[in-house]
Amino acid sequence: MAIQLVTTAARLRAESARLLREKGGSSQALVPTMGALHEGHAELARTAVGQNDVVVASIFVNPLQFGEAVDLERYPRTLEADLALLDAAGVDLVFAPDVDEVYPGGEPRVRISAGPMAEKWEGASRPGHFDGALTVVAKLLHYGMPGAAAGTGVPAYRAYFGQKDAQQLALVQRMVADLNFPVEIVPVPTVRSADGLALSSRNRFLSAEEREAALVLSRVLRLIEERANARQPLDLDSARALVESQPLVDLDYFEVVDPRTLEPLAENCRETPFRGEALALIAARVGPVRLIDNVPLDS
Ligand code: PAF
Repeated sequence: MAIQLVTTAARLRAESARLLREKGGSSQALVPTMGALHEGHAELARTAVGQNDVVVASIFVNPLQFGEAVDLERYPRTLEADLALLDAAGVDLVFAPDVDEVYPGGEPRVRISAGPMAEKWEGASRPGHFDGALTVVAKLLHYGMPGAAAGTGVPAYRAYFGQKDAQQLALVQRMVADLNFPVEIVPVPTVRSADGLALSSRNRFLSAEEREAALVLSRVLRLIEERANARQPLDLDSARALVESQPLVDLDYFEVVDPRTLEPLAENCRETPFRGEALALIAARVGPVRLIDNVPLDS
């Protein structure tokens, strides 16, 4: 295995600077993860590797973004398999700190406040989740930032996030813009299995029957996408009814929103043909897990 594992911020800085120097590189990327990696993460990593000279992936299960202690404990830890996947994708360096490295004095007293965009959708059922996620993303973006490389000026710095977590992505983009972080956020499209289910580390907890039922999420998103492409009314109510007719699926929300503000579109969507850019967001509980999915719409 060529990939290198470091567990402290100091080693991360030293090793990424060495790699950048040795490669004569002018760009560095960060792929933040919590481990339990699947093909969706591999796609993030391969995209980063294709666009940058040095790529760091982080693996850190962030206690700040979990509501229940039991969810944090139950979160799968699969370091060996994760390293193999990142190695195959061509990642140079993995930063896998322990909790004391990231939060040396215990939980931080000062945190990022994700603000009103975090109150709806996922935020409504997971209070504090996005404050915790943005706080660790801010820290990880700082850990992964390249230093000025001798002779080549300030390297470009990019970080890669999946479109699957649309609300997280929108919030990270807002944080970076609103707080002037010197990093380019690169969104990477959702990876799906052949039957359409969006890949997620939670899918492993679905029974065969629940997995089959969960396909209704990607089906209704495709339906809405087809209506948008055909400039037909989106008619969310009929699409919601389709989801609700599936007994194993408990729909939480299905909405079409402005991708920059995450506010529902005003001219939504029963009779008026949809116009402009939007995001269809869906979340449902299927058996033991909560699943989310989305599709960008552009008429
Ligand atoms: O999407 C995730 O895996 C996590 O929320 C992230 C961005 C790594 C922060 O812990």
